Amino acid sequence: KGGPADPGARLRFSPVAPNSEDAVKVAAGYESSIVVRWGDPVVPGAPAFSFDGQTAAAQERQFGYNNDYVMFMPLTRDRALLWVNHEYTNEELMFRGYKGGDTATEEQIKIALAAHGGSIVEIERIGGSGGWRLVTKGRRRYNRRITAHTEMRFTGPAAGHELLRTAADPAGHHVRGMLNNCSGGVTPWNTILTGEENFNQYFVGGNGVPEADKPALARYGVSTTAAIPSGSRRWDRVEERFDLARHPHEANRFGWVVEIDPYDPDFVPRKRTHLGRFKHEAANSTLSRDGRAVIYLGDDERFDYIYKFVSAGRYKKGSHRHNLTLLDDGTLYVGRFTGDSPPSEIDGTGKPPSDGAFDGSGEWIPLVSGDRSFVPGFTAAEVLIHTRLAADKVGATKMDRPEDIERNPVNGAIYVALSNNVNRTPAQADEANPRANNKHGQVLEIVERHDDAASTSFSWSLPLVCGDPEDPSTFFAGFDKSRVSPISSPDNLAFDSDGNLWISSDSARALNANDGLYAMPLAGRERGHLRAFLTVPIGGETCGPLITKDQKTVFVAVQHPGEVTGASPDNPVSRWPDGDQARPSVVSVWHGRGKDIGA
Ligand code: FEO
Ligand code: CA
Ligand code: CA
Ligand code: CA
Repeated sequence: KGGPADPGARLRFSPVAPNSEDAVKVAAGYESSIVVRWGDPVVPGAPAFSFDGQTAAAQERQFGYNNDYVMFMPLTRDRALLWVNHEYTNEELMFRGYKGGDTATEEQIKIALAAHGGSIVEIERIGGSGGWRLVTKGRRRYNRRITAHTEMRFTGPAAGHELLRTAADPAGHHVRGMLNNCSGGVTPWNTILTGEENFNQYFVGGNGVPEADKPALARYGVSTTAAIPSGSRRWDRVEERFDLARHPHEANRFGWVVEIDPYDPDFVPRKRTHLGRFKHEAANSTLSRDGRAVIYLGDDERFDYIYKFVSAGRYKKGSHRHNLTLLDDGTLYVGRFTGDSPPSEIDGTGKPPSDGAFDGSGEWIPLVSGDRSFVPGFTAAEVLIHTRLAADKVGATKMDRPEDIERNPVNGAIYVALSNNVNRTPAQADEANPRANNKHGQVLEIVERHDDAASTSFSWSLPLVCGDPEDPSTFFAGFDKSRVSPISSPDNLAFDSDGNLWISSDSARALNANDGLYAMPLAGRERGHLRAFLTVPIGGETCGPLITKDQKTVFVAVQHPGEVTGASPDNPVSRWPDGDQARPSVVSVWHGRGKDIGA
């Protein structure tokens, strides 16, 4: 279906060997440069970064911590906007002598609140190359920081519901800030969708909520037994809304997909309730055959689900105001995956069944359409606010941590990164999640019926079962395993213009090596020939990744460099990128002689 017959033929780079270096290592012939670092000025006039002189007032105007999702939007040939998520904070690496939230200074807590959210920055091309850098002078009219304090609106069927109302927002329509924004996507109408993921970690007082509220909070990982869960940042010490004993609905106001128009600096971000509430990894868009918006959604938790949203209305090119209403009416579905091999042949070891493939069929089970619920015992708004509990009722398939889900623009199939799940037992293995104690994850391919993203049924298979290729449970689409790179814990996905799959990893050193960015052809003679294109500094996770449409640049966000047990500012494991305290940073990578990425 479309694309070159042998799309891997253009991937000629030599793989980067597994390593533990405190550096970004790129394939031979490629160059890299830092685009923007934690603390760099975003809002014009913001102060320069000072590790030992951090203030909340400065951080509110500087690039936040733990860059994750990256979106590149060209303005001219040599100018562009970069949107970047700031997922979370590593206080133990940010502040000297940090001993936890109980003893943190109030200023440190306020800095952390300001370091969450997202950034929009203008960037410029370096010379005529594929490298990019932050614009540091001039007007920069789009530059903006979004933080845990930015005023946002709820839209869609759950907006205004009683479960979203608090003392600060008695109507349930307005919320301050977004939290733990992991990955995201761009819509056909050029807005950003960004997913609030592990929001549960910011709340205390879950033991003090009404008994009736506890099961739902617990299903989302909020402690309902401890007054102060261990490791708490204690944000309640500066903002009492983070104490659920006082404000039991505040946690319901996080865990959403947020839509932001990067071209409108005054845009009030919208939490789109019709996309459901869970630990949203990302929100990638495509269009159905009849022009409706389809958003693929993963809930990144062990044994949680894959969802999709199909809009009721159609995308209209050039009608921005209309397109901004599309995510407020449609149908939210959850995925059920059925294997085509006898369940007795799936023993949890990863040994392929007798038909030689982990594959099968599946269906999208409707949960809610507008104000109509399909889940007995749940109103439409309850399905959207307590989506996990609703999906539990309908026979959805419990997956191995669904991370990024993205449609391949060349072959039209949908790819899902299933990161890992060490809690799965042999009895819980199924054909789509075939390994018990799954440390390294797999990639799932979905082919929608009639290649239409709005279909309610599909076929699926696993082209990649990750790990050390010497591990017999791994599978690289049938390619010669002596020639592939080891890979663990796929997280974010991207495609080049030939439809080759690019995979970034977040393995916490599960293979005793740094994480990286890998390329794997999905068709032709090179199908399954997975190779490491770059690796990131020790303790870091590879986020982003984004290949520009001209194929000349790949952006990766290096998240939490130096996040290794026991590391601290006085005992740093990483000093990347400046030889000083580690700073999460976005990197651009390009070929030194101007070849396409992967050549
Ligand atoms: Fe924040 Fe699912 O990775
Ligand atoms: Ca099979
Ligand atoms: Ca992620
Ligand atoms: Ca991850």
